[in-house]
Formats: sequence, structure tokens, C-alpha cells
Amino acid sequence: MGVNLSGKRLAVLGAGKMGVILLQSLIKSGMFPPNLTSATVQHPERARMLCDKLNISVGIDNVAAVRNADIILLCVKPQVVREVMAELSGHINPQQLLISVAASVPTALIEKALGIDMPVIRAMPNTPCLLNCGMTGLCKGRFAEPSHLEAASTLFGVVGRTVVVDEKQMDAVTGLSASGPAYIYIILEALAEAGVKVGLPRDIATLLAAQTTLGAARVVLETGDHPALLKDAVTTPAGCTIDGIMELEEGKLRVTLIKAVVKAAQRAKELAFTELS
Ligand SMILES: NC(=O)c1ccc[n+]([C@@H]2O[C@H](COP(=O)([O-])OP(=O)(O)OC[C@H]3O[C@@H](n4cnc5c(N)ncnc54)[C@H](OP(=O)(O)O)[C@@H]3O)[C@@H](O)[C@H]2O)c1
Repeated sequence: MGVNLSGKRLAVLGAGKMGVILLQSLIKSGMFPPNLTSATVQHPERARMLCDKLNISVGIDNVAAVRNADIILLCVKPQVVREVMAELSGHINPQQLLISVAASVPTALIEKALGIDMPVIRAMPNTPCLLNCGMTGLCKGRFAEPSHLEAASTLFGVVGRTVVVDEKQMDAVTGLSASGPAYIYIILEALAEAGVKVGLPRDIATLLAAQTTLGAARVVLETGDHPALLKDAVTTPAGCTIDGIMELEEGKLRVTLIKAVVKAAQRAKELAFTELS
């Protein structure tokens, strides 16, 4: 499945944390060889450092970077998007595809800032893209065709799984899967502490916690079974697990996680209004 992107030129604008994670995986996969890939940053010294590290052309000139690009991956901070779009206006055309990973920035804002019928895809990846086990939500702007969504799915498919949603659901994706790794790291840290509390060395406790999380997640993904059924299968009547579950329920783990996602999604929505409109 997916479209063939071989021979396409990629320009990553804003090669910071997320930009570099994506660049490294896309180059390593062979989808975008170094000679067809370029990037920009704000600071010249960081451009030089990345140039050496990634073996691609990295500069500070966004207009030059997009000149021959087929796909433009916008990875600057949300508050910088307008400024970069103003720079690109008049130097970008609808034969190119612009994919933005900027949280809370609607496709309409980008389209308006560019002032042309530009195909824009909005993507919300997460940091596990670093190990090609990321999760990316995708939606299309007004002028993007299904083929543009397919191209973006193919690109982000290199770094993990993808899902296509309506743009109105992107704040929810932000609150769940983009912020989600932070929640899981806190859970892992707590489980490792718990292991130490019950007598395990910290490294073994961390391994047990992380591999158990990975295993449980894989079972959900690969069987498609409801998590509640899988939980029931672990829970022997009058056994140990039910005592642990009772503590989780008393500590309101479920409702706390639900509230965390709701708050993060609300914040994503607020940012779009307060800082960008
Ligand atoms: N981190 C995540 O988990 C995550 C997840 C999903 C989406 N995102 C989105 O990814 C975007 C980047 O986040 P990040 O965490 O990677 O931020 P970051 O590390 O601060 O990276 C931003 C990059 O933009 C560069 N930059 C600033 N102004 C520029 C300009 N005018 N032209 C070109 N480049 C410019 C910076 O250059 P210098 O290096 O020279 O300062 C830096 O490399 C955000 O929009 C965020 O919403 C992040």
C-alpha cells in the first residue's frame, strides 16, 4: 500500500527535535536519499552542525530550500508558522505538497497565509517516530486531494502507524497520541519505582515495566481484543492482580488519565485561538 515517493525531493523547514527525528528515519529508510533532501533551521551554527550530522544540505534560507522541493515538511514551532508562510508566499506552488506538523495550527491558517490554492496536509506525529514506532494523525486541508493524504500516509508510514481523521479531531489526537508518550513515561517511571519498593534493582524494575507495557500494547494492536477482556484474562479470582486493580481504582487512575487527555486536547484548541488567530 502507499504511493511511490521515490525520486521526490523533500525540504524540512525547522529541523529541531521533531524535524530531526523525521529526517533521520526518512533518510535511513532510503525513501528520501541525502541528495534529494534539504532542511532549514534558524541559527547558522546549528545548520552547520546538522549538515555534518545528517550529511544533507541544511541552511537558514527557507525560500531556497523549497525552490525545487516536491514535499515541504513544516516542523517549526506553531508561533513561527505565520512568519515562515509569509516568507514562502510567492515562492511555493500547488504542484508541491506542504505537510505541517505544527500543533494547533489549522490548515486554513496556512492556506490563507500562502494566498494560493495550496495542497496542505496537517500531521500530528509523536516522538516514538524516532524508533519507527510512532503514531501520526493526518487530515487534509481544503485544496488537498486524497492522493496528497496517501503521500503523507506513505511518508509517515516509515516512522510508524498513521490514521486519517477530520481536522476537528486533530486537537484530540494531540491530547492523546502526541502528548501520550509523556503520560506513559510517567506510568513507566512509577512502575519502576514500585519495583524498587518491592525489592527489585532499578534497572530490572525498569526493564520489567517497559517490556510489560510494550507487550500489553502489542497484544491490543495485534489481537484487536478489547483491553477490558485482556485485563480480565490476567485477573484470577481472589488472585494478586485484582488486589492491584483495586488500588488503581481507588487511586482513580482511569479518570485521571481521561482528564489528562481532555485537558491537553483543550489546551491544543485554546492555543489555536489565542496565539494564532
Ligand atoms: N516534540 C513533539 O513531541 C511534537 C509532536 C508533534 C508535533 N510537534 C510539532 O513539531 C514542531 C516542532 O517542535 P519541536 O519540539 O521539534 O521544536 P524545536 O526543537 O524547537 O524545533 C524548531 C526548529 O525550528 C527552527 N526554526 C525556528 N525559526 C525558524 C525559521 N524562521 N525558519 C526555519 N527554521 C526555524 C529552529 O531552529 P534552531 O534549531 O536554529 O533554533 C528549530 O530547529 C512544533 O510545531 C510542534 O507543535 C512536536
